[in-house]
Amino acid sequence: MMMRWSFCSLSVGADMSIKEVPHIPVLLDEVLSFVQTIENGCFLDATTGFANHSYEILQGTSLDMLCNDKDMEALEFSKKKLSPFEGRVKFTNKSFSKLEDELISLNIKGILADIGVSSYQLDNLDRGFGFESEVLDMRMDKRSDLDAKFVVNNYSKEELERIFKEYGEVRDYKKIANVICDYRKDKEIESSKELATLVARHTRKFSKINPATLVFQAIRIEVNGELEELKSLLLNIENANISGLKVLIISFHSLEDRIVKQKFKEWTKKCICSSEVMRCECGNNNQKGKILTKKPITASIEEIEENPRSRSAKLRVFEFNTKEI
Ligand SMILES: C[S@@+](CC[C@H](N)C(=O)[O-])C[C@H]1O[C@@H](n2cnc3c(N)ncnc32)[C@H](O)[C@@H]1O
Repeated sequence: MMMRWSFCSLSVGADMSIKEVPHIPVLLDEVLSFVQTIENGCFLDATTGFANHSYEILQGTSLDMLCNDKDMEALEFSKKKLSPFEGRVKFTNKSFSKLEDELISLNIKGILADIGVSSYQLDNLDRGFGFESEVLDMRMDKRSDLDAKFVVNNYSKEELERIFKEYGEVRDYKKIANVICDYRKDKEIESSKELATLVARHTRKFSKINPATLVFQAIRIEVNGELEELKSLLLNIENANISGLKVLIISFHSLEDRIVKQKFKEWTKKCICSSEVMRCECGNNNQKGKILTKKPITASIEEIEENPRSRSAKLRVFEFNTKEI
């Protein structure tokens, strides 16, 4: 198994300089084994992050690449890291939902979306994703208007309950929403640290995991519209309907994995008639391609030991039919 720690001494962002950006790519060998079957054309890394997957794809294939991330800091870092491959790489700073033109115009043959947050985003206290952070932000894209501070201090009790229940599957979602609403009557919640402390004070601890983990997950999903973005990426891919396209999606929680699983299954359906019609009217030939991973691929024990964050990663791969020209 190939396992790479990627510690790079580069400057990240205009106003920030960090000595080391640790990010370990998950399921790297597994991703490469699918990408290496693509003979030529352009590969889209929709979630470039710190370009660990991108670097290895450029190194291990002759594909050109479009490297996308909505986080400008990540993209600036990746531009430097991928400079040895100048001429083969282009960059774009968009959300998934805005990538439809690139899919069609660039002869894209494969796509990787390693969704969620990067280790850098999680560990960098300026970004507000971590429990110790003095800010309450959690935006992957700093251009976006909605941040965690707004959600926590302005959403109604019912809205907070909904996101904690739907996006965090938080057991005590009503209680936590109530606690937040009571607390903010006296003062605004200003930092992730303050929020994590408040949640911890009112939650029973069942394991070593921080009790605020699921609450933070829920807020992050809301702030970044993560589920809607994933659905929109899959819809753009479906509409592009590119001959032979390979789609690789790595998800980190069941809500995302369910969306990917259902969409891939839908793409294999021959008949797309509504359940109300008595007899098939669609021609029964609507299968778009095949699922290449009967079960999702997960990290090996060795990978999990080296990188505990890989334990919840699930890779699913779909291949669109090759069209006769
Ligand atoms: C897990 S990291 C990717 C790590 C990368 N594969 C590597 O090996 O360095 C996920 C990245 O996807 C980006 N991202 C997440 N959702 C996105 C979206 N909807 N549109 C664009 N980028 C997104 C995040 O900003 C983050 O940098």
